[in-house]
Amino acid sequence: MSSSTMPYVIGNWKMNLDVESAMSLAEASAEIANETADDVGVGIAIPSLWIPLISSEFFETSLLVGAQDCSPHAAGAYTGDVSAPMLSPWCAFTLVGHSERRQHHGEDDDLVRAKLDAVIEHDMAALLCVGETEAQREAGNALDVVGEQVLRAAGHLDSGGLRNLLVAYEPVWAIGTGQTATPADAQAMAAHIRGLIAGLDAGSAPEVPILYGGSVKAANAPDFFSEGDIDGALVGGASLDADDFLEIVRAARQTGAGLLADDAR
Ligand code: 13P
Repeated sequence: MSSSTMPYVIGNWKMNLDVESAMSLAEASAEIANETADDVGVGIAIPSLWIPLISSEFFETSLLVGAQDCSPHAAGAYTGDVSAPMLSPWCAFTLVGHSERRQHHGEDDDLVRAKLDAVIEHDMAALLCVGETEAQREAGNALDVVGEQVLRAAGHLDSGGLRNLLVAYEPVWAIGTGQTATPADAQAMAAHIRGLIAGLDAGSAPEVPILYGGSVKAANAPDFFSEGDIDGALVGGASLDADDFLEIVRAARQTGAGLLADDAR
């Protein structure tokens, strides 16, 4: 199985930046997005507070603006939460199931699935984040753990739903640590995920972007992007530096993640 999707490089800003630095980083990210628009989808998942501001300011650029989380509920007595219908006018996509949400907010696969459904129902793409802990990898369970996360959250989607799905494989032990999966292990996991998606709908599987995340930097990005089933990256720390982010996007264009890699095969 090979992928035939455009590569995506998505920055996850997490809970960082004040409004001035957020605006200037968004501007730099929009320039990067415009420069590479024909070859790479460039997005940023940003704190919800800045979403309307940044989305309206950069509406006419190629930058994809997204949220980091969303409530599974459309409206109601859910203090502090933000719903999919609130995000939808501003966002192209929303992350769901990031390991920091699973870890710090006790999110389980059922909740992740409900969030994913809310996102897709409200006309956004869902970027489903999955990944094993260090102990799970050492025990030899990484493929099973991640496979279960994928199927529990997205195993009910039909071809229409799968058109709005992206998956990010982010090993928990590689996030913010400077450690990465080996490109071969990341490729094996991406191929496993694509195989599971093929089990849901064979025709959709090559079209679902599968990204790698976990300490992606300009120096290591080309190694991941040259793997056949890795269609880009979800970038944390390095997305906060415009120069680093630009280099990673250029690597996706040059090494030909996704569609370009497929053409080269
Ligand atoms: P780092 O790139 O900082 O390791 O973060 C990865 C991540 O969690 C992206 O969602």
